[in-house]
Amino acid sequence: EEILIVDCDTGIDDALALLYLLADPSVRIGAVTTVFGNTDPETAALNTLRVLELAGRPDIPVAIGAPHNLRGNRHLAPDVHGEDGLGNTHLPVPAVAPIGEPAAELIVRTARENPGAVHLLAVGPLTNLAAALELEPELPRLVKHVTIMGGAMMHPGNVTPAAEANISNDPEAARIVLRAGWPVTLVPLDATMTEAITEEQRQRLADFGSPVTTFTAAILDLYLDFYAKNAFGERKAACHDPLAAAIAVGDVEPLLAPIVPVDVETGDGPARGTTVADLRGQYRGFPADASATVRVVLKTDRTFGERLVERLCGAEETR
Ligand code: BDR
Ligand code: CA
Repeated sequence: EEILIVDCDTGIDDALALLYLLADPSVRIGAVTTVFGNTDPETAALNTLRVLELAGRPDIPVAIGAPHNLRGNRHLAPDVHGEDGLGNTHLPVPAVAPIGEPAAELIVRTARENPGAVHLLAVGPLTNLAAALELEPELPRLVKHVTIMGGAMMHPGNVTPAAEANISNDPEAARIVLRAGWPVTLVPLDATMTEAITEEQRQRLADFGSPVTTFTAAILDLYLDFYAKNAFGERKAACHDPLAAAIAVGDVEPLLAPIVPVDVETGDGPARGTTVADLRGQYRGFPADASATVRVVLKTDRTFGERLVERLCGAEETR
């Protein structure tokens, strides 16, 4: 049985990813680890515990990870995710506390105890995964799969002209993780920016009125504002992290996802944090690179917003 470890910077869309997964009883989440990014890792852990409590799963352990990137700095995103990381909904402090074990150690221990069973779903900066690789160089052989939300291939960046936030927050870590030779599915902005949740869908979540959908509608309020002002010009927002979660558990089948070499620019120029996928083979008879291990999701069917609403309202067919 596959054990999912979700590494995240909860975060509005991180919360959506967790709630999406938690709504499917067949998905086994072994632990959640947190990293700086949308907020600091302690706040991300508190937010994760709030979400787990709401979904009735306070038993899932939450471990705190890296407070900054491998260079020792960080940039948080209260403008996108709110001062509390959850759209300024300021939910009460959860009853359960994070565990004492550091995130990278938890990842390594779980992989050693369950060789071939762990699927890492990383939807924040990749600092914890890089730290885990440093602790256990055999990790790529112990882990079953790694699914990452991050990067921008042919799509513009979202924090700089070319770089996406999760990669830009720690390009050195991203390079280590993408070069580790393990099987990776990378879900970049090319896919996530076309999978939006709309104001109409948010309204349906609010109307449904369960604790989970009421909370989801509340955290989406600020997120839709941000995306209306900064991206779409109307109240809808990108489903970055929940799309990666759905792909990780096989609910969404990518329509275009070549396995190609991917690297990260770590220089200090304007391309810092840019992901470079070798997509030349997509357009002509370019020889495939048999050593590539990263599957880059470039296209999905653009129905994910609806799928997310149905899942959270429990209306989806039971599998
Ligand atoms: C990614 O950055 C974070 O703000 C989101 O949670 C998502 O993981 C999108 O670029
Ligand atoms: Ca995230």
